[in-house]
Amino acid sequence: MRDGRLAGKTVLISGGASGIGLATAQRALAHGAHVAVGDVDVAAGERAARETPGLHFVRLDVTSDASWRDAVDEVRTRFRRIDGLVNNAGIMLLGDIESLSDDDWQRTQRVNVDGVFYGCRHAVRAMRDHGGSIVNLSSVSGLIGGHNMLAYNASKGAVRLLTKSVALHCARKQYGIRCNSVHPTFVDTPMYQNTLAAARDPERLRTNLLAQVPLGRPAEAREIADLILYLLSDESAFVTGAEMVIDGGMTAQ
Ligand SMILES: NC(=O)c1ccc[n+]([C@@H]2O[C@H](COP(=O)([O-])OP(=O)(O)OC[C@H]3O[C@@H](n4cnc5c(N)ncnc54)[C@H](O)[C@@H]3O)[C@@H](O)[C@H]2O)c1
Repeated sequence: MRDGRLAGKTVLISGGASGIGLATAQRALAHGAHVAVGDVDVAAGERAARETPGLHFVRLDVTSDASWRDAVDEVRTRFRRIDGLVNNAGIMLLGDIESLSDDDWQRTQRVNVDGVFYGCRHAVRAMRDHGGSIVNLSSVSGLIGGHNMLAYNASKGAVRLLTKSVALHCARKQYGIRCNSVHPTFVDTPMYQNTLAAARDPERLRTNLLAQVPLGRPAEAREIADLILYLLSDESAFVTGAEMVIDGGMTAQ
């Protein structure tokens, strides 16, 4: 049964063909929203739309301003408006200050930072007449560093403060648009699984990673989706510019 927490709202989720984005799409649909997922992986996006009744897929490469414009226009044409944007698309390429290549640095900033910048700009344009909610996926890696996460740390730290600037601008303009960041630790998605699989000893890495989490397990994508759902809904009407940590106690230590 739809309980209507997002009834009447239309939400666009970048990187929504997989992981946290797809879980958020499914939760938002169950709570009464019209939902479009945008992704650069067209096969995965079309499969998600086929397998999830009511889900609409749009092609979106978050690194391209023109692609954002087309995707947002397509969603507005189909559903008449956009009330929520989840800037969820992201990549994680490992490397430290001595080993990271120029290409991995630039690709990370293109997707994780430029993508969120363009997304926020188009969302403000689409929502400034009636208000809405922007949710940006940062990470605990936007709050604390890791020796081999140079590009990812820098990108997720940028998302944290980019979010606050957008929130303050929209408040000053009285657009009724809120903007918040979400900071998960390890979440059991393809990103996490692929990182483990690429390690020399995946089980050892898994044990080491989870030793940092007081609750002793990775989050499920659905648990992050529930927090995003709250931020998209009117229940969070007084929450803007906030950094919502969801990390099983990791950064409390
Ligand atoms: N999984 C974790 O442990 C974890 C922890 C903290 C934060 N996060 C963040 O949460 C977000 C989602 O992560 P996930 O674990 O669900 O990852 P995922 O790899 O399962 O999904 C990411 C999606 O983004 C899409 N994508 C990548 N580049 C894109 C582009 N240029 N344009 C459009 N789509 C693009 C991919 O095709 C994929 O569908 C990311 O921003 C990630 O950094 C993940």
